[in-house]
Amino acid sequence: MRTQVGIVGAGPAGLMLAHLLHLQGIESVVLEARSRDYIEGRVRAGVLEQTTVDLMVQAGVGERLQRQGLVHRGIYLSFSGRRHHIDMTELTGGRSLTVYAQHEVIKDLVQARLDAGGPILFDVEDVSIHEIDGARPKIRFRHQGQPQELECDFLGGCDGYHGICRTAVPEKALTAYERHYPFGWLGILAEAAPSSEELVYTYHERGFALFSMRSPMVTRLYLQCAPDEDLAGWSDDRIWEEMMTRCTTRDGWAPKQGPVIQRGVTDMRSFVIESMQYGRLFLAGDAAHIVPPTGAKGLNLAVADVAVLARAMAEFYRTGRRDLLDRYSETCLRRVWKVQRFSWWMTSMLHRFTSDNDFDQRRQIAELDYLTGSRAAMTSLAENYVGLPLD
Ligand code: APR
Ligand code: PHB
Repeated sequence: MRTQVGIVGAGPAGLMLAHLLHLQGIESVVLEARSRDYIEGRVRAGVLEQTTVDLMVQAGVGERLQRQGLVHRGIYLSFSGRRHHIDMTELTGGRSLTVYAQHEVIKDLVQARLDAGGPILFDVEDVSIHEIDGARPKIRFRHQGQPQELECDFLGGCDGYHGICRTAVPEKALTAYERHYPFGWLGILAEAAPSSEELVYTYHERGFALFSMRSPMVTRLYLQCAPDEDLAGWSDDRIWEEMMTRCTTRDGWAPKQGPVIQRGVTDMRSFVIESMQYGRLFLAGDAAHIVPPTGAKGLNLAVADVAVLARAMAEFYRTGRRDLLDRYSETCLRRVWKVQRFSWWMTSMLHRFTSDNDFDQRRQIAELDYLTGSRAAMTSLAENYVGLPLD
């Protein structure tokens, strides 16, 4: 088998890359280790920045998103028992954020792939990549029990943090930058109508809490917890009690309660690999970087990477020029590091750290108080939250 671009991974990065390449007349094959049902049902993040919405709409995959996505003007920051609204649409000259679950994005992109008649293989096994610094890199894998080899011009390493593409690069060619946080998030989905029209990020002395949503009937909530928190210790009653303690404001606002339909613990880390390219392999999305979820940036960063990559590949196939491809990593990393900074800042401002003392707690409250009282500071938060320009 031969194709122009071999793509490992059908997450937001791999699927969007395949679609953007298709729009430019470039062939690709997408290989995914899991089943279609699995990737279309996996509950993950759900906030799209304006930059991502614009890209999806321009690429013709934004129809359902525009119909079903919940457009928000801003968020609330809550501390010391009060909620403060940050009107991002007003602060950024009309930009907004859209709540639309990641697995809905996946469904739309899988459908676009099938409609285009583009190859996408699910349940592939034993995937490995070869000759990545040669002229004809190869992907070997097994599909339906049969060993296969796919020869490509380029490889898209879109297989997430635990994938095989990054580890195929010689260790000395990469530098990893990493930071772990001494906490995780316990996340739940509840069958309850959201009690606020917009997200509420809460700083509380018992730890961070986040109120989010998925639809007019489903609330999504997160609690700061230990990184290795044992879910068995969290009955529904305990979850709701902790949620109410952290979230309830003096004016009586609190999440509405309902049956918990899904739960899980996420650990938190910041991670960047430099460079994002090696030979003919281009890493994108979680394969190249991880952000803590506080800034809601993981999916958005993945989509931004492949927008840059698809443009560079399109220029190569149209003109034979490699300069955009050669600059792929450099172009992405400038934005990646800004988004890393923003995600780290949001995380640091809103969580309790075990190493913190009373001084740090007062400093955090002072930062939130300053932020919510300063138009300049709120504008900085807003322009990062709704999405920095692509370049
Ligand atoms: N072969 C084929 N597919 C693989 C392999 C492999 N060896 N290893 C992993 N995969 C698949 C995974 O099953 C997954 O579907 O690659 C896909 C990677 O997708 P994501 O993890 O969603 O990564 P990405 O597309 O970069 O999107 C980043 O997803 O993890 C969230 O919070 C993250 O929102 C961010 C976004
Ligand atoms: C979510 O709804 O899953 C969500 C929202 C905001 C975040 C992270 C996750 O910062």
